Amino acid sequence: MILAEFLSQLAALESAASPRITAAESLDAWTEVRNALVGRQAGEFTAIMNALGELAKEERREAGQRANGVKVALEEALETRRAQLAAAMAEQGPTLDPTMPARDRWRGTVHPVSLVIDEVVEIFRELGFTIALGPEAEHSWYNFGALNFPADHPAMDMHDTLYLGSEQVLRTHTSPVQVRTLQQYPPPVRILAPGNVYRRDFFDPSHAPMFAQIEGLVVDEGVSFADLKATLSHFARRYFGAHTRTRFRPSYFPFTEPSAEMDVQCGVCGGNGCGVCKQSGWVEILGAGMVHPAVLEAAGLDSEKYTGWAFGMGPARTAISRHGIPDIRVLYDSDVRFLEQFGR
Ligand code: PHE
Repeated sequence: MILAEFLSQLAALESAASPRITAAESLDAWTEVRNALVGRQAGEFTAIMNALGELAKEERREAGQRANGVKVALEEALETRRAQLAAAMAEQGPTLDPTMPARDRWRGTVHPVSLVIDEVVEIFRELGFTIALGPEAEHSWYNFGALNFPADHPAMDMHDTLYLGSEQVLRTHTSPVQVRTLQQYPPPVRILAPGNVYRRDFFDPSHAPMFAQIEGLVVDEGVSFADLKATLSHFARRYFGAHTRTRFRPSYFPFTEPSAEMDVQCGVCGGNGCGVCKQSGWVEILGAGMVHPAVLEAAGLDSEKYTGWAFGMGPARTAISRHGIPDIRVLYDSDVRFLEQFGR
């Protein structure tokens, strides 16, 4: 390299630099331009200076002085531009607006169905009931056979029940937990069995293919229908209020005899009739009955010695009538705008 070439490179850099520096419109852009021009690693000025050693010894003094002059000029231009940008930012004021309302905190809430389950469990716990659980993928013997379903019962049809192979089903109710519990624990038995059950239904405003149930079971010596009525009526008064009226209607289940359905006076209209109770003044909340002797025998108990009663309720139904929810599908949508309402 010769001196003339070195000096012309410096001059070219100097004249190209000043429009680039003034073109930087932000501090970030300014930093980029500075690094490109005088950065220690890859700056264009540094690249030219690296060639200084290739010049003849007597030329280096002049070259060095000139280079220094260019460097000082570049740094002054850079500093001028930086000061301009900083002043413009200061004039704009802070980008933070302290008067903006704070963002609401994300807060988890207990699902309205879980809330009903918790409350029901709490009331029965005071009466000495404990919790029992069973599998959701259940053997069909526990789901049907042991519960005295006749072999041609329509609930066992493929279009009502979800089969997992020939012997396994997704349980259609929590009643199989009755048999599992009685096989495992000797009476006296007082249990609640909350859990999910599955039926071959479509999602519509009043059906879901999966929903929660709460099973209750009492087995001991000398247990009668009076115990069933008294306990469930007590529960209704604890849950829905001290003046809640209940009524029992005869019903049928293969695994209870006699069987009943319990209604409570509609809490929304006080029994006068409204949309929630379909103008009847009553809301059905559970099915119940005396445990069928065949179920006790299937579980290996002496049905001459022991008697018992059982019930099954749908907590989603309770949540719906309590909150006046018109479509049960919102319970399964996981839409936080719906769920949030239960957190307050
Ligand atoms: N298992 C019944 C159902 O799913 C409810 C029930 C449980 C009825 C226990 C009587 C006794 O509808």
